[in-house]
This record gives sequence, C-alpha cells and structure tokens, in this order.
Amino acid sequence: MPDEAAMSSVYPVIGEAGFVRLVAAFYRQVPTDELLGPMYPPGELAAAEKRLRDFLVYRFGGPQRYIEERGHPRLRMRHAPFAISLVARDRWVELMDRAIMEARIPPPVVAIMQPFLAETATFMVNS
Ligand code: HEM
Repeated sequence: MPDEAAMSSVYPVIGEAGFVRLVAAFYRQVPTDELLGPMYPPGELAAAEKRLRDFLVYRFGGPQRYIEERGHPRLRMRHAPFAISLVARDRWVELMDRAIMEARIPPPVVAIMQPFLAETATFMVNS
C-alpha cells in the first residue's frame, strides 16, 4: 500500500478532471460487463459513479465530499450485499486498469493508484 504522502500527492497532479475521466471510463464499461453489470442497479449508475469518484478524490488527497455526504467509508461493510468472488475482483481491477489507460493518467500517478486499487479490491472479496 502506498504511504499517505504518496496517496495525497495524486489529487494535486490530476485534479478533479482526472478523476472525472477515470471514473467515467470505468462506469462506461460496467453496464455491458456480464459479470459486474448485473450487480449495479441500472437507475443508480450516475449516483454510483459519483460515489466512487468522490471516494477516490477524498482518498487521493482531494476535497472531503465523500465523508461529508456518506460518512466513514466502511467499504467492506458497504460491499457486503454483493457476492464478490475472486473472479469478480479480478474483473473490477481489469475494468479499472483499462479506465486508467483510457483516462491517460500519468505513469507516476498510476504507480501510486494501481496498488491501492488492487489491494482494496482484494479486501472486498467476500464469497
Ligand atoms: C472488488 C470488486 C468490486 C466490486 C464487484 C464492487 C461493486 C460495487 C457495487 C455493486 C457497488 C454499489 C454501487 C453503488 O450504488 O454505489 C459499489 C459501491 C462502491 N464501491 Fe465498489 N466494488 C468493488 C471494489 C471496490 C473498490 C476496490 C473500491 C475502492 C477503491 C470501491 C469503492 C466503492 C465505493 C466508494 C462505493 C460506494 C459506497 C457508498 O458510499 O455507498 N469498490 N461497489
């Protein structure tokens, strides 16, 4: 896991716009993914996109909107309603890796983001 100084160095580099591009590129792939698509409530995709974006912004050194609106993340608990197998975890990471490329995140930032996202995804596995 990257240290906190590295984590909070990301937002000043890619800004709000970088997170908007990244999370939009991720959610563009979700509806048609045969494994992850059915997990996400169709009418809630825009709201889900905002929740993930605000969380990543907060976690990588940006404004605390996520905390203000959702409180403590408790991510494992919030993922408990979904059956997340290792295969689903790998798919989530694959979609996110593709989104990182598509959003043209600079390599030094990728080096910080990728391990955090991959390790957090492993932590979500619950079935
Ligand atoms: C391991 C595979 C994962 C799967 C299958 C998965 C799936 C989901 C689903 C179905 C939702 C509900 C959508 C919504 O209404 O917000 C959700 C919410 C969320 N996920 Fe994941 N997720 C995964 C990993 C992650 C990871 C690695 C992170 C963070 C780095 C993350 C962050 C979030 C956040 C912040 C929310 C919204 C929580 C809330 O405030 O209610 N997820 N996820």
